[in-house]
Amino acid sequence: MTVSKPHGGTLINRWNPDYDIYQIDKEIEMDKMALSDLELIGTGGYSPIEGFFTQRDYDSVVKEMHLSNGYVWSIPITLPVTEDQAKDISTGEEVRLVHDGKTYGVIKVADIYQPDKQKEALSVYGTDSDEHPGVKKLYSRGTVYIGGEIQLVKRIAREGFQEFYNDPAETRKIFEEKGWKTIVGFQTRNPVHRAHEYIQKSALEIVDGLLLNPLVGETKSDDIPADIRMESYQVLLEKYYPKDRVFLSVFPAAMRYAGPREAIFHAMVRKNYGCTHFIVGRDHAGVGNYYGTYDAQKIFGNFTEDELGITLLFFEHSFYCKKCENMASTKTCPHGKEDRIILSGTKVREMLRNGEIPPSTFSRKEVVEVLIRGMQKTTVQV
Ligand code: ADX
Repeated sequence: MTVSKPHGGTLINRWNPDYDIYQIDKEIEMDKMALSDLELIGTGGYSPIEGFFTQRDYDSVVKEMHLSNGYVWSIPITLPVTEDQAKDISTGEEVRLVHDGKTYGVIKVADIYQPDKQKEALSVYGTDSDEHPGVKKLYSRGTVYIGGEIQLVKRIAREGFQEFYNDPAETRKIFEEKGWKTIVGFQTRNPVHRAHEYIQKSALEIVDGLLLNPLVGETKSDDIPADIRMESYQVLLEKYYPKDRVFLSVFPAAMRYAGPREAIFHAMVRKNYGCTHFIVGRDHAGVGNYYGTYDAQKIFGNFTEDELGITLLFFEHSFYCKKCENMASTKTCPHGKEDRIILSGTKVREMLRNGEIPPSTFSRKEVVEVLIRGMQKTTVQV
């Protein structure tokens, strides 16, 4: 028995290391985002998607948040090239997908089209301002999209924390072996602070296991680097979580900062990794003030439970309350703002860079120690 059905019903597998790439002359250079997308399509992380979007899927996702086959999907998975590169490519042919001189995949070109990026930005990110890091990235990529099914022929070499990479087929098997029937997925691009721990453990009270699934793909430059975060997760799990109820495994996608739309994407992908439940808290995948605090929860109201196929666990803004002497949220704490320990991510990063220690009511001391050490090392290197 599998833990839950993947999105679309079947876990896609387009990993084919024996695929004959030597007859294929043409190549497309992928950026890091496309490379991580290629791998996630190939391993089934993005099931039911089997390739980079053709215009039909692209238009349907941008406008309707559904693929053309009707399945829920909220973020376009695209392969951008420059106009010059596009001139050399024709539909029907196979092209190698290359990064840094190495071939990672092959695309069978089904479509070549010019996206309306402003429309994409407004629909997906809710803004067309290039001050938004996701929109900035979108505008910086090529202006022509190539669509078509892919083969993944080479895996990305991992630097560090190799043992925490698991494909969806593996995590599904691991959950089965552990006997977990209900698994809650937790997305994060940050260290696990007390509020994160509180909502994870609240969820753990009602499910069998937690998949702590930090995103380690491309993030904006002022986010805390993945290797430092990984170390902090490990010390925290070691000291404060029951070993047989938590599984730490990384999510190798790039961060989009698309708030509500990205929350749907994050949930669908975690379903492919075998999760039955997914946590969405305050301003999930948000950045700056682009999204309302609970927009990423409200957006799920556009879909039926059936078409989502995963149970969402929504949490209110959580914090430590000095009067309650406990972690709490506005749902459980009657006291005022002045009693609550709330620090912004920017403020915390600034404190850490200066070697200042945020209060243990905000973040556990073991986590803070790792972060300070890591941030100081990073600063010295820069
Ligand atoms: S995210 O970009 O990956 O969403 P982050 O790592 O900060 O950022 O958040 C991980 C998850 O925890 C998200 O679901 C987010 O909504 C939730 N979250 C973060 N901080 C809080 C908080 N103080 N209260 C409630 N939920 C939170």
